Amino acid sequence: MIGDPADDMHWLETASPDEIKRMVEALYRVHRLIAAITDLDELLECITEESRQVARAEASSIMLHDPKNDELYFHVALGSSGDQEALKKEVRLKRGQGVAGVTAERRTSIIVDDAQSDPRFFKHADKTSHFQTRNLLAVPMVDKENLIGVIEVLNKIGQPSFTDLDMRVLEMFANLAASAIVNAQLIKEQIRNVRLAAIGQAVTGLSHFTKNIITGLTSSVELIEMGLERNNIEVLQKTFPVFKRSTRRISNFVQDMLSFSKPREPVRRLCDIDSILRDAHESLNEFYKERGITFILNTEDVRGTVNVDQNALYRCFLNLYTNAADALIDTQDGLIQVTAAHESHTNLRITVCDNGSGIPESIRELVFDPFFSTKGSQGTGLGLAVTKKIILEHGGDIHIESNPTGGTCFVIRLPIGNLIQ
Ligand SMILES: Nc1ncnc2c1ncn2[C@@H]1O[C@H](COP(=O)(O)OP(=O)(O)O)[C@@H](O)[C@H]1O
Ligand SMILES: [Mg+2]
Repeated sequence: MIGDPADDMHWLETASPDEIKRMVEALYRVHRLIAAITDLDELLECITEESRQVARAEASSIMLHDPKNDELYFHVALGSSGDQEALKKEVRLKRGQGVAGVTAERRTSIIVDDAQSDPRFFKHADKTSHFQTRNLLAVPMVDKENLIGVIEVLNKIGQPSFTDLDMRVLEMFANLAASAIVNAQLIKEQIRNVRLAAIGQAVTGLSHFTKNIITGLTSSVELIEMGLERNNIEVLQKTFPVFKRSTRRISNFVQDMLSFSKPREPVRRLCDIDSILRDAHESLNEFYKERGITFILNTEDVRGTVNVDQNALYRCFLNLYTNAADALIDTQDGLIQVTAAHESHTNLRITVCDNGSGIPESIRELVFDPFFSTKGSQGTGLGLAVTKKIILEHGGDIHIESNPTGGTCFVIRLPIGNLIQ
């Protein structure tokens, strides 16, 4: 029986030095469970294998208790032969059904010396798994009165069947395994909750962002209609740039979402890094002019073409330039300086520096996280996440340095593929 400490001591007194050594070994194996505790599947596999070794058996399995319908179902089965996947799919035991079901019901370990002639033995599991069970030991896993599952070890190696000592050692192991499983289940649940909360937060942020742009679009469309009706060119001229900017923001947002949503191999072709850096600036030129921002590009030191994904890199620099402009909103004489030069035969070093607000030390770790933004409904938090993803997909890296003259520098190391001189 499990759980009676006084009773636990008796069998220890009769244990031989070899048996005590085995017990200590079994306890030692618990360490491996602790290491696997953050991943439930890994933990269950680990418990199954360690149980097999603790009891010196040919095979072992864990059935977990499903409290919803009070059934046991196979989670992991390990052994030298047998179809484990079939077991997982097909075998579910009601309380009291099979040796495991009886073990679960009574919460008592059971040793079966001759499985084939024992009426409690559930032959269907053998049939499904093509495993021949001769003898077995089933031990319940219980944590704070709750049934967690049943460990079964099958076919004792080197002896006719399982002994009392095997049972005691496995019971001790099963108790610890049960609490490890409960902890792992809690961790899994917690991770899921955190993930759901993060998704909720991201969706809320993105909804605010798009709602904002759509409001802008709707009002500029109304103004354009009015201008057209009244033939008022002045209104049209004023409104059209607002309309254009809103559509561009929506389009950029969708592009960022797409770039972010799945891993992608860069579609490399030979191109000119200067054109990429210039094209991204061209798209923002009007906007920079409006805000009185000076843009300086220096690519004089770059020789030849580079083998990169032109469209993807264009997105990176569009994001970096847009962020730089956003950081310059309160800065007179806003300046964005972009420099590209060879760092080595295989890499370019590209820096995008601004003399804007700078990034406080406290959030530097976070700015590349998806959906992290300090811009409220004006930001999506996708720009830097996408930028980093694309640079990493090129085999490069990106980091932040403070601009010595105030503001921020993004420093990119970009492998350029086969460089043609
Ligand atoms: N050049 C910069 N200067 C100051 N802060 C920046 C700069 N670039 C990025 N950031 C910070 O990093 C955050 C994340 O940027 P990003 O992923 O592009 O999202 P978003 O621009 O939509 O907020 C920004 O909200 C901002 O706080
Ligand atoms: Mg951005």
